[in-house]
Amino acid sequence: MNGSDSGKEKKRIMIVDDNVTNLMFAKTSLSDIYDVFTVPSAAKLFALLPDISPHLILLDVTMPEMDGYEAIKILKSDSRWEEIPVIFLTASSSGKDYSEGLTLGAEDFIYKPFQPELMLKRVENLLELAEAKKSIKRQKELLGEAKHSYQPIPQDDTSRKLAIGFLSTLSDYLENRGMGPVLLAGRTEKRLAFLVKGLIQKHHYESTLDSWDLSLAGFAAELHDLGKVFVPDSILLKRGRLTAEEFDQMKLHTTMGAGLIDRSALQSEAEGSEFWRYARLFALYHHEKWDGTGYPDGRKDNDIPLEGRLMALINVYDALVSVRPYKKAFPHDYAVRIILEGRGSHFDPKIVDVFKEVSEKFQNSDIE
Ligand SMILES: [Fe+2]
Repeated sequence: MNGSDSGKEKKRIMIVDDNVTNLMFAKTSLSDIYDVFTVPSAAKLFALLPDISPHLILLDVTMPEMDGYEAIKILKSDSRWEEIPVIFLTASSSGKDYSEGLTLGAEDFIYKPFQPELMLKRVENLLELAEAKKSIKRQKELLGEAKHSYQPIPQDDTSRKLAIGFLSTLSDYLENRGMGPVLLAGRTEKRLAFLVKGLIQKHHYESTLDSWDLSLAGFAAELHDLGKVFVPDSILLKRGRLTAEEFDQMKLHTTMGAGLIDRSALQSEAEGSEFWRYARLFALYHHEKWDGTGYPDGRKDNDIPLEGRLMALINVYDALVSVRPYKKAFPHDYAVRIILEGRGSHFDPKIVDVFKEVSEKFQNSDIE
C-alpha cells in the first residue's frame, strides 16, 4: 500500500528543515509517490498544518528559533495533530537523541545525508503502520469495548486478524531493513511453549507459571526485538565487529523496545493488560545473563524476570542457527553445545536442563 495506488488520493507529507538543499533533496526522493510540502521552519509548519493536514511529518531536529524537540512537543499535545507520525531528520546518531526523540513521540529517525531509497522505504513503512494502528482503533470502537477492558489478543477471529496484520506490518518494516523476518515467524512462540511446558512438568517456577497464559505470552514474545527499529542500519547491518560505542547503541534496543511497548499499551488504552506486561518483560530483559553480566540492568539469577531468562536462551539459539549480516548459520548441534556451556553463567540452569530434553523440537520448530 502506498500513496501511488491508482484512483486514490496521494498521501500528504510535510518536510520541515531550515536547509533548502535538504528540503529539495528530500522532496525529490518522495514526490513521485506522495504530495510533498516543504517548509523552512516550525512556525511555518504550524501555520500550514490546518490546511494541509498531512499524513506524516519529516521534522529536522536542529533548527533556529523552534527546534524539532519543541515542535514535536506541541504536535503531540494537540489532539488535532497528535496521531500524525513524525520522523526526525538528524545528523547525529547519539543514543541521547534516540531516547529523547522517542520519549517525545517520534516514530523513527532518518540520518543525514539522506539515502533516497531508504527514506522512501521508511516513509512507506511508517504510513502503513499508521494505517494499521488506525484500523485497530476503528475496530475497537466498532466493537464498543469498554475502557480498560481491552484485551489485545484475540478473543475472536477479527481482532486476532487485526493484531496479526499489525504485527505483520512491523515484521515487513524490519525485513525491509535487512533484518529478516523477525516477527511472526512463529518460531519464538513455539520454542517458548516447549520450554514452559518442560518447566511445568519438572515443577519448576510453578507459582509463576501457574498464572501464565501461554498463548498470550507466546504472542507477546514475538515482540522481544521490537526496539531494533531504532537501531541505525549502519549498526544493525554491519558485517564487521561493532565498536564499543556501536554496541552501546545496539544495547538500547531493549529499553527502547520496552518504551515503544509502553506507548502502544497507552495508546491502545490497554495499559497494564497481560499481553503488554509480557511483551515489556521479554523486550527489556532478554539480554540479561544469569551471572549478572548482561544488559540493560545487569540483573542476576532470579532477579531477572522469568520472561527474560527464557527469551535469553531462545534468542541465542535463534541467533546461532540463523544467518546474520556478520555471520553464517551454525548447525543445530553447535548451538546446543554453546547453550549447554552457558548453563549457570549466561542461562538459568533449570531452563537449560529443560532445553537439553526438548532441543530436537527447537530444531524443528520452523516446520508447521
Ligand atoms: Fe535482542
